[in-house]
Amino acid sequence: MTSTHEQWDIVSGVGITALAVAGGRAVESQREDRLINDPYAADLVAAAGSTMFTEMENSPAELLEAMSGYLGVRTRFFDEYFLRAAAGGVQQAVILASGLDTRAFRLAWPEGLRVFEIDQPKVLQFKDDTLNRIDAEPGSDRRVVPVDLRDDWASALEAAGFDATKPTAWLAEGLLPYLPPEAEAQLLATVDRLSAPGSRLSIEHMAGPRDRFATDEMQAIGRQWGIDLLGLFSTDDRPDPEDVLKRAGWQVRREPTNEIAAGYGRELPGFTRRFAEVGCMLTAFRES
Ligand SMILES: C[S@@+](CC[C@H](N)C(=O)[O-])C[C@H]1O[C@@H](n2cnc3c(N)ncnc32)[C@H](O)[C@@H]1O
Repeated sequence: MTSTHEQWDIVSGVGITALAVAGGRAVESQREDRLINDPYAADLVAAAGSTMFTEMENSPAELLEAMSGYLGVRTRFFDEYFLRAAAGGVQQAVILASGLDTRAFRLAWPEGLRVFEIDQPKVLQFKDDTLNRIDAEPGSDRRVVPVDLRDDWASALEAAGFDATKPTAWLAEGLLPYLPPEAEAQLLATVDRLSAPGSRLSIEHMAGPRDRFATDEMQAIGRQWGIDLLGLFSTDDRPDPEDVLKRAGWQVRREPTNEIAAGYGRELPGFTRRFAEVGCMLTAFRES
């Protein structure tokens, strides 16, 4: 499918945000108090050869601790979400805007579980090239779906082997802030349409107006690393996804991010604490 939308790679546009969060996972994986271990993150970041990571590495220790602290919490939360879903009988997982997510490789999936990764073509190509070079072996039946989430991604997903009659675990992590309202509405409607009973969806969600969570402090950090956060975020108002999902018949659980962090014994420091104050993780379940 040819997209009419702009394309980016791992060092440009919103693609570079995937590199930044992989950088955070690389730092988190080195911490003594780490909540996750992503053994591929450092190789992925190094392979991109971007000055962004040098800038990041040269950042004050408190800043790196804050960023990796947040990403450790978020990554652990969604790792557990997928493992619970798999234990509960889900047979396929779809990672919407997978970026440099390596869960298809590093989680202990049940035999044969299919993991679909959707992102822009150049982002997925970079990831495949790098992981092939270091002989990384997926621990799942991994399928990449190179497509823009503002296009007809459902057809691309089905062409890659997705089966809408089977229960699915969906994930939208680090995605919704970048989608315009109509693409977010289409995304939720498509997930709803393709979800058999027993399906789940988990979302990293920032409540309220977007310029509220893209604080001046966060934007200054982004600029230092060459990322124009507010330029990448879509700031138009839209309904809260919890309301959208409930209206469509899903049961939704909303967990404040700072409380999740506290549950892991971690107090988020610095700018991530303030960021997490407007943040929560939504986990939705479709019974019938
Ligand atoms: C902050 S990164 C998060 C990546 C991954 N979920 C993670 O947490 O590591 C944002 C990702 O969203 C992807 N993305 C944003 N808008 C997209 C779109 N319209 N279509 C496909 N991918 C998109 C970017 O390419 C990037 O990989």
